[in-house]
Amino acid sequence: MIGELPGRIAVVTGDPSLPDPTKYGQRYGPEDLKVHAVLREALASLGSMEFQVLERHADLIEQLDALRPELVLNFCDTGLFNRPEQEIHLGTQLELMGLGYSGAPARAILLCFDKQVVSLLANSLGVAVANEYFLPAEAVATAEIDTFPALIKPNRADGSVGITKDAVVRDAGQARAYLRWLRAELPGTDLLVQEYLPGPEYGLGLIGNPETGLEALPMLEVDYAGLPTGLAPILSFESKTQPDSPYWQDIRLKPAELSMVVQQDLAARCRKLFARLGLRDYGRFDFRTAADGSIRLMEVNPNPAWGYDAKLAIMAGFGGWSYAEMLERLVATAWERIRRNAGGG
Ligand SMILES: Nc1ncnc2c1ncn2[C@@H]1O[C@H](COP(=O)(O)OP(=O)(O)O)[C@@H](O)[C@H]1O
Ligand SMILES: [Mg+2]
Repeated sequence: MIGELPGRIAVVTGDPSLPDPTKYGQRYGPEDLKVHAVLREALASLGSMEFQVLERHADLIEQLDALRPELVLNFCDTGLFNRPEQEIHLGTQLELMGLGYSGAPARAILLCFDKQVVSLLANSLGVAVANEYFLPAEAVATAEIDTFPALIKPNRADGSVGITKDAVVRDAGQARAYLRWLRAELPGTDLLVQEYLPGPEYGLGLIGNPETGLEALPMLEVDYAGLPTGLAPILSFESKTQPDSPYWQDIRLKPAELSMVVQQDLAARCRKLFARLGLRDYGRFDFRTAADGSIRLMEVNPNPAWGYDAKLAIMAGFGGWSYAEMLERLVATAWERIRRNAGGG
C-alpha cells in the first residue's frame, strides 16, 4: 500500500515547443504529444495529490520558485532546453533551490552517461558486459576495426542517437562507412566499439531504494520476430523516432521468456549496481544475450523514459499496475526517501 503522499507536486518534462535532437526531425511529433497528454490524464486520476506539469523551460526556475512544490517529479529526461548534455542541470538546480526531486541525483545521471565507465563498474560487481573498447573521437578517422560482427555507438548518448540500422557492422568496409557517417553526423564524439550481442534483448526495472528495498518488475523482452529480414534487430534511432519505419511498427515488447531464477539473479546483481552508481527511486537496466548465451548489460538508465508506452510502464503493466498506479508508486517512493532523509533516518 502507498503510505503518506505529498500534496503539491511539480512534474518537469521535456519542452514540446523546443527542438529535440532525440526526436525525428528534431521536433515533438503527435506520438510525443500523446505521451504528455496521457501523463496529464493519469495524474489527474490520482485525486489525492495536486500536480502541476511544467513543460516550458524558458522560465522553469521562476515557475518552480513561485510554486515551491513539496516534490519535483523529474521526468525531464530530455535535458534542460531538450539538450541531452544538460540532463544533469535540472537536478543540480533543484539541489541549489533546496527542492527534493524524484529519481537519480544529478551526479548519478552524469556517471551513467559514460557507458564505458558503467561497463567497468558493472563488470567489477559481477554484472557481465559486452567485450568492448573505447574509440576516442580523434582516433575515429584512422580506426581499423577488425573483430566482427560489431556494434558501433557513441559512448555518451541516449535515445539511440548515433545508432541506426547500419550500426551493426560485419566487415571492415561496413565499419569504415559507419565511422565516416558518425564523424559527419556527430563530430567530436567518442565511440564505443562493442561485440554485437545477437540474442534476446531484455529490460529490468527496479523501483525503491537500497536502504528500504528495491522491487524488481517482471522483465520485458524486445520481440524482433516481426521485423523484415535484412534489418539488423536493434532498437535503432528509427525505432524510437520514426513512426513510418518498420523499426517503429514491427517491434513489440513482451514479458521476458526467462525463468524466475534467472530474473532474480539478474535483479540481485542490478540492485548492487543501483546502489554503487548512486541511483534513487527507480531505474532501468538493459541487457542482451551474447553468442555464448550469457546475458550482458548494455546500459543503465537512471532517468528512464516515463511515458505510458515506455519500457518502465510496460514492465509495471506486466506486474499488474496501471500507468497511474506506477506514477503513484514513483511519487510515493521518492517522497518516502526524502522524508526519511529529512528526518535524519
Ligand atoms: N553491443 C550490442 N549488441 C547488440 N545490440 C546492441 C548493442 N548495443 C546496443 N544495441 C542495440 O541498440 C539499442 C540502443 O543501445 P543503447 O546502448 O541502449 O543506447 P541508448 O542509450 O541510446 O538507448 C539497444 O536497445 C540494442 O537494441
Ligand atoms: Mg538503451
